[in-house]
Amino acid sequence: MEHDEGTSNPSNNRPFRDVLKDYASRRQVLRGGLTLAAGSFLAGPLSAAASSAPAAPSRKIGSRLIDFQPVPLAQGNGPLPAISADYDYQVLIPWGTSLTHNVPDYSGAPDARPGAAEQAQQIGIGHDGMWFFPFRRSSTRGLLAINHEFGTNSTVLGKAAPESLADVMTSQHAHGISVAEIRKTGRGWELVKDSMYNRRVHGRTPVEFSGPVAGSEYIGPEAGAMGTLNNCANGYTPWGTYLTCEENFNGYFGTSDPNWAPSEEQARYGLSANGFGYGWHLFDERFDLAGGSHPNEENRFGWIVEVDPFNPDALPVKRTAMGRFKHEGVALVEGRGGRVVGYMGDDERFDYIYKFVSAGNWRFMRSQGLSPLDSGTLYAARFNDDGSGEWLELSLRNPAIAARFSSEAEVLTYARIAADLAGATPMDRPEWTSVGRDGTVYCTLTNNSRREEADAANPQAPNPDGHIIRWRDSNRHVGRRFTWEIFLLASSTHGGERSLASPDGLWVDPENRVFIQTDGAQKDGLNDQLLVANGNQSGDDIEIKRLLTGVTDCEVTGITVTPNRRTLFVNLQHPGNGDPAVTNFPAAQGSGAIPRDCTLVITRKDGGIVGS
Ligand code: FEO
Ligand code: CA
Ligand code: CA
Repeated sequence: MEHDEGTSNPSNNRPFRDVLKDYASRRQVLRGGLTLAAGSFLAGPLSAAASSAPAAPSRKIGSRLIDFQPVPLAQGNGPLPAISADYDYQVLIPWGTSLTHNVPDYSGAPDARPGAAEQAQQIGIGHDGMWFFPFRRSSTRGLLAINHEFGTNSTVLGKAAPESLADVMTSQHAHGISVAEIRKTGRGWELVKDSMYNRRVHGRTPVEFSGPVAGSEYIGPEAGAMGTLNNCANGYTPWGTYLTCEENFNGYFGTSDPNWAPSEEQARYGLSANGFGYGWHLFDERFDLAGGSHPNEENRFGWIVEVDPFNPDALPVKRTAMGRFKHEGVALVEGRGGRVVGYMGDDERFDYIYKFVSAGNWRFMRSQGLSPLDSGTLYAARFNDDGSGEWLELSLRNPAIAARFSSEAEVLTYARIAADLAGATPMDRPEWTSVGRDGTVYCTLTNNSRREEADAANPQAPNPDGHIIRWRDSNRHVGRRFTWEIFLLASSTHGGERSLASPDGLWVDPENRVFIQTDGAQKDGLNDQLLVANGNQSGDDIEIKRLLTGVTDCEVTGITVTPNRRTLFVNLQHPGNGDPAVTNFPAAQGSGAIPRDCTLVITRKDGGIVGS
């Protein structure tokens, strides 16, 4: 979702004063720095799919890495997707597809939307981050864990505001995640209905808390805690679990109490009396900011939530050691000493990029019955204008943080404020992160229309079209220093076939193909899109090809592949913004059906590796 709300960072971590005058020559310097860093970086990240087979070797890097016919600018718009002439797509699991035979599939008919009971057994809305968990190493059968970020009242309910608790419950059931068994047959990919693994986790599912904030006053009392919301991007662990990330949770809260005013902490997380207009607080006191019976409810959201897709009985666990903010996603890699390291964006204007480092070797911790995600160190990034960077520890060991907070639980609950105090660099809306095989970390910075002062890491003011930054950490991901450069300024692509804006979804494959998904107004007449860039290149002319454009008014987001990388899954979110007059996709044009969020299964016509 391209969410355009106010800035909630009042800190003075304002951009550097010295805007670099010669951007090109500076980047040349940085490129040299990255190359040097590469020599000392030996530990590869987790493979593209931790639980999957090594990918088959591809053609030589640097020759024809990206060898498909791109979708031409002139074809990248309209009510239907457009895909490269070398590729095919099929539609899978649109919103309302039933996971069981107990309730019917929703057809998209405007007068027959699912109710709360049906929705709890159907695929949710707002398809976003996802991951394919193969059965053994299969590339034809596995579990797709998929986020359902949001759905407006007008689309989910067919009205502007809920009129009952049942309406609110329908909306809550449409959020969260689905776990769906899928398989490839002679007719293509299909959902396995009634699979023992099929599961919905939604806004009313019981959840657990773990890590330093569990049991603390900031979220307690925890009995009866439930729900995960605004599940944006995702991650996955080397032990085979799914991580779903809670982003704009503030939008679901509100109050009718005219005497309510946000605390400093609530304001920093964007909580307001009207929220985003969902109106849940009118019928569900849990979301009433002035309600007395759930005083900590808003602190129970904004976390990374671990779900075991292979164990439908296990409760989702909110991993509080990774901090509370508007989590976009998390890219988890194995660093020095077997520690797991997670790179995370906080998607708001002038908010930060974070890193979590587990306290110990993840295999050892798990052998002791400990979660590697329950204890560790949280950092926020400072980008210096000379191409160096520093990870700032967010703990009571920092005197500025200790002067404001009294416990680790408090620091993690209000991680944004701790990062303000530590002096992190305010970024242009950090979205997805991804780590290449050589250890280079990429992060999309989608846009920032309100930036007034440029700095080296956010070099455009304002920045309506976004950019992508990349860096290499020291000491195999666990160090406190890094070296960074700008990979791509979206504005540099406009007016030509490479045109893109507002990069958001991101995945770097093992050969450094950088898959870029967009969310926001595109230039040159385009719908939102999926492109593939050459991560082995630098400079203003890097190779970028358009693999897919979505339908009018949809975001293209979520990306995962089968272990053999012959099948790619991506999502179309909020097609036509729910308006059947714009598009009826995936139903036939002219059918009158409500356009529905869905997954596209993408393959090369010649059966080759996707992106090639
Ligand atoms: Fe849910 Fe920042 O995208
Ligand atoms: Ca976005
Ligand atoms: Ca996003």
